[in-house]
Amino acid sequence: MMERKKIYDTRLIKSSDEEGLKDAAAALSAGNVVGFPTETVYGLGADALDPEAVKKIFEAKGRPGDNPLIVHIYDKSQIEGLVSEVTPTAQALIDSFMPGPITVIMRKAACVPDEVTAGLDTVGIRMPSHTLCNKFLKYCGCPVAAPSANLSGSPSPTTALHVMNDMDGYVYAVVDGGECEVGLESTVVDATGEKPVILRPGAVTPVMIDEALKTHSGYAAALKKGEVPASPGMKYRHYAPGCEVKIITLPEDVSGIDPSSEELTDEQKQSLFNIASPFILEAQTILKENPAARIGIFAGTEVKALADMAKDDILSAHINFYVYGSTCDVKAASHCLFDGLRLLDRQEVDVILAAGFKGEGLEVAYMNRLSKAAGKTGDDVPSGAYEEAENGILEMPLDHFSELFTASVAFISDDDCNLGAITEGIFTDLLRRKGPFCCAEDEKIGAELYAESAGLYASEGNSPDETACKAFSQLMDGTIAHHLSKRADVSVYDNNDLVLTINDAQAYEILNSFPELEGRVYSLSSYMASKGLIMKGDDGRIASLAVTDPAGEDLITYKHTVLALKAWLEILFPYILKDLNAMRFC
Ligand code: TXA
Ligand code: MG
Repeated sequence: MMERKKIYDTRLIKSSDEEGLKDAAAALSAGNVVGFPTETVYGLGADALDPEAVKKIFEAKGRPGDNPLIVHIYDKSQIEGLVSEVTPTAQALIDSFMPGPITVIMRKAACVPDEVTAGLDTVGIRMPSHTLCNKFLKYCGCPVAAPSANLSGSPSPTTALHVMNDMDGYVYAVVDGGECEVGLESTVVDATGEKPVILRPGAVTPVMIDEALKTHSGYAAALKKGEVPASPGMKYRHYAPGCEVKIITLPEDVSGIDPSSEELTDEQKQSLFNIASPFILEAQTILKENPAARIGIFAGTEVKALADMAKDDILSAHINFYVYGSTCDVKAASHCLFDGLRLLDRQEVDVILAAGFKGEGLEVAYMNRLSKAAGKTGDDVPSGAYEEAENGILEMPLDHFSELFTASVAFISDDDCNLGAITEGIFTDLLRRKGPFCCAEDEKIGAELYAESAGLYASEGNSPDETACKAFSQLMDGTIAHHLSKRADVSVYDNNDLVLTINDAQAYEILNSFPELEGRVYSLSSYMASKGLIMKGDDGRIASLAVTDPAGEDLITYKHTVLALKAWLEILFPYILKDLNAMRFC
């Protein structure tokens, strides 16, 4: 990945903010980079005729400059100045599909710089059908070169928030045009020759192109399908989330059957079961192999309904759903695909089971993106751009959120000295490294997560042992020296969403006095058991979660304690996140 420098206080411009829109357009034509919406995905635009401005796109994206950019226009009259030839094929496509989700490749005019075309003698022209976008492009006054506005290697953005997640600080502004209607990038068609060649499938399908060409006066040639020279951009795995993606191909079409209807025939019920059950079976198989696996499911209401029917707490503790609509609705699935991949990834899942479609229309474009996410084609992400972003520690971007909620977990030990300070310290470190967080259902709502500790028999204000502090600071990057012990009382239980005790006896004691806290108070091991997690050691024996207080022992014993607690808390982290109704912000 190229080096990225944060140089902007990025403006997020609302669709109603006319002055903001003009300001962003002026900044773009003055040589800056601006994120903007289209009906397909968000783009990252710069003046297409200014090589220096175009270079800034690559810097912001962390993308190699050997990939040509699409030039966006708001009026067909602009095409003339950008290309040297409009073939009959190109003319037919322009007449039939512009404005719309298509990019037409034509021979370029001399004024289009190599920075845009990556040295090719062709240029891709696209006129989006998105009112705010076209207004913005008009204010810019120049043709706008733009790739999708994601960081290289991460899924294309379909909301302004996605763009902010990847680009905050690296671009002048982002224009917020809401959710992109299509959700998949445009169909790229090479129209330099006699017959069009589809380089990238999209919402404008081969059948539609075929139809248009047949009826277009002066063009009668049949569409050549299949034999496609690879588009330069095809060699990268563009659409990959950080985790593994597995495709579950839907066996039959159940669109038209309402899963919530009370009057389903047996046959209809069977059909719904047939499409939903492979997801649940696959999840169960994965869990059998790895009881700690976290599974994201990108599917429709039918699959969620079947999982709910199973009434299996352990299964549901391991599954995070992204429901895009009716399972067989490929339009809804396309609209949500990139958002779904991003969201599930941030909920810390290890694998995503995503609905796959057979079919010849939009299905082809959808499967093209999904297969890439599943790593079936193309090379790997160039030098792990995505991982790099993930490991960096981000400041809490409070001003992104319309609202904020806090959620917390309390760790209870006996004296809240060593074990209390260590667990709180480890968990706080996890929060710092994995954060910032937002609400799992609505990423506009921020989540401030924190941990505290208290002791059932603690006296107030004691510090941890010197050896404990030493062990902690040698293994973690941080300190627990400032920790002061605190007595666990009702207010601690009331103020925390989840209460985890170090050993079983402590949880038992709390629940004995406050039975109403059932479901919110667990020992570390009973919490694990409630999630179906049984850990076995190398010898095949069930590993015990018992952690004894190392008070008075040597540094090595303390270090073992820190490492053991760290290992357990890392395993529990995604479950705690889910119970606190939060996910990573980006
Ligand atoms: O829907 C879209 O097309 C979005 C929005 C922002 O317009 N843009 C987009 O851009 O997806 P990008 O850069 O992520 O993908 C452009 C694709 C790449 O695969 C690139 O190789 C191909 O179009 N492309 C662009 N110009 C080309 C050319 N002259 N010859 C062949 N392929 C070209
Ligand atoms: Mg892209």
